[in-house]
Amino acid sequence: MTNVVGPGSTIGILGAGQLGRMLAVSARQMGYRIAVFGGDRDSPAGQVSDLAWPGAFDDEDKLLEFARACDVVTYEFENIPSHAAAAIDQHAPLCPGVNLLQTAQNRFAEKTALSSIGLRTAEFRMVRSSEELASARDDFGGAVVLKANTDGYDGKGQWSITPTDDAESAWSEASLNEGIVEERIDFDFELSIVAGRYADGTAVFYDPLLNDHANHILDVSVSAAPQVTEAVTNEAVEMARAVLEHFDVVGVLCIELFLTHDGHLVVNEIAPRPHNSGHLTIEAYHCSQFELQLRTICGLPSVPLLRRSPSAAMANLLGQHIPDAWRAESLTPLESPNTSLHLYGKPESRLNRKMGHITATGADPTAVEQTVRLARETLLQP
Ligand SMILES: Nc1ncnc2c1ncn2[C@@H]1O[C@H](COP(=O)(O)OP(=O)(O)O)[C@@H](O)[C@H]1O
Ligand SMILES: [Mg+2]
Repeated sequence: MTNVVGPGSTIGILGAGQLGRMLAVSARQMGYRIAVFGGDRDSPAGQVSDLAWPGAFDDEDKLLEFARACDVVTYEFENIPSHAAAAIDQHAPLCPGVNLLQTAQNRFAEKTALSSIGLRTAEFRMVRSSEELASARDDFGGAVVLKANTDGYDGKGQWSITPTDDAESAWSEASLNEGIVEERIDFDFELSIVAGRYADGTAVFYDPLLNDHANHILDVSVSAAPQVTEAVTNEAVEMARAVLEHFDVVGVLCIELFLTHDGHLVVNEIAPRPHNSGHLTIEAYHCSQFELQLRTICGLPSVPLLRRSPSAAMANLLGQHIPDAWRAESLTPLESPNTSLHLYGKPESRLNRKMGHITATGADPTAVEQTVRLARETLLQP
């Protein structure tokens, strides 16, 4: 029988950013108490939580003190040292699982696990010198991506290497002890699929999202985009199911995918938590990815993921999209009942910093995508 972490219990969130904030909002609606680790009261999640524990993620004592105050712990920040994650799990279940967390922290381990369960990935290899980098590039067809094996996000710790680049200077510029070299995938589109799994093994899937990146950062996501055919959806669901089952996940995860010219999917990476591309589920579905995270980790009843709207789109608001001062006119597009503005309460706006997002819902995926792009531009219009 599944243990239920009932309303009134304390949910611990490792990481105090926007993902924690949106989970906290959802959990508060359902009467839970929220403790966040890694930010003060003024952090995006700390602002909407009961308890905020500033602290470093390598401070095991502090993490344990935090875990003792929680009934269940989840994370929006993945780089929690292995031994600390295992220790937390002894005090309060760490969802969606220590094994998944540790694997997702390490690109080599992650890609090895994905291929071991039969999922297609880019060819990859660990390298520790410029000679190894050059030889991987030769073996993988000339154009490759070099990535830091740990700690990368939003394209940070990542270098594109062409057949003519000098491997020695590329390696020294990257300044890595170990890196992973990946074949450069020539994809048609980038997709993601957000999925959840309950303790009894019930798995649920949102429709895959079509994702557009700018400068390696997610820019716009569209749900029910015409490029995502039924065959692509089925393939994405089966891939996500394989990952959920392999890691015996209880919680929510996302897998990032490339759709290649042959119409098949290649897995890029796993995010062991709700994902930026899934923010539109707040408006587009009856159960958002954050409510799903809460339901799965707390042992609440499973619900089917029913749509509220045939399609939806989301545009990220980075520092450069935010006006210096808010004016009533900049908010005109948001007067539509089908358009929502989310801001994460970050006091300081910086280039490429995720400050918020805009979601639009409606019948036509092309129209909703135009709506969010236009609404974002209007924020900055004089
Ligand atoms: N092997 C690859 N081939 C082609 N593009 C890639 C490859 N790996 C990464 N990219 C591009 O870089 C982006 C960020 O890479 P990703 O591995 O997802 O790292 P991050 O942790 O920064 O999100 C991807 O969304 C994709 O646009
Ligand atoms: Mg990524």
